[in-house]
Amino acid sequence: MIEARDLRKAFVTPAETVTVLAGADLTVAAGECVGLTGASGSGKSTLLNILAGLEPADSGTVRMAGREVVGAEPDELAELRLQDVGVVFQDHNLVPDFTVGENLEVVLRARGMDGESARRHAAHALGSVGIAELIDRRPSEISGGQAQRVGIARALAGGKRIVLADEPTGALDEATSRSIFELLREVAEAGAAVVVCTHDLLVGEYAHRQVALRDGVLA
Ligand SMILES: Nc1ncnc2c1ncn2[C@@H]1O[C@H](COP(=O)(O)OP(=O)(O)OP(=O)(O)O)[C@@H](O)[C@H]1O
Ligand SMILES: [Mg+2]
Repeated sequence: MIEARDLRKAFVTPAETVTVLAGADLTVAAGECVGLTGASGSGKSTLLNILAGLEPADSGTVRMAGREVVGAEPDELAELRLQDVGVVFQDHNLVPDFTVGENLEVVLRARGMDGESARRHAAHALGSVGIAELIDRRPSEISGGQAQRVGIARALAGGKRIVLADEPTGALDEATSRSIFELLREVAEAGAAVVVCTHDLLVGEYAHRQVALRDGVLA
């Protein structure tokens, strides 16, 4: 489902060139939850953003759900994220003026669903992460762990085949972190390919497999 080969990426600033990826390879099958670890600054977020088509690689190839990502046009990448790739950010990026339900519906409407179907799918996705009752609350009226669940529900809504999560438990207590990791593993076991970037050692108890990013390569 995810196939990245020989990815290379450097950031060039006036002062220096920072090589972040130096030939990274990653394969993740449907049904697999993979933990991506590595020191702060090792390039985990950069790799995730490249997989999601949010940042360009310098070279290498990325196939996500059968589509080529490196070199694709911006509208093809937007379409890939809309249909197949859900991204969960640490700060969950919910729209504050929308209700929890509307935060999901706006994405589903963008996929061409009518209002009623979008509402139904949003309710289903929230139910699948255990927070159906929060559908009419606003992001300011829910906890950090609940907001993270909304972010995951939004990434899943409408049946995404790939979920990329960047530090989804960064600001959460242990019990809530465990429930988030458990949820991500369940999402994988329901058939998605899941990659979780994290510093959280708990990931070892939940991921099917772990890969570490060091000196620009994955091992
Ligand atoms: N736009 C940019 N311009 C220049 N350097 C950048 C840019 N984005 C990231 N970097 C550098 O690339 C390296 C990798 O950053 P990245 O955010 O991918 O690390 P990370 O592994 O996610 O770290 P953390 O665990 O702290 O989130 C860092 O040295 C960072 O300073
Ligand atoms: Mg990061």
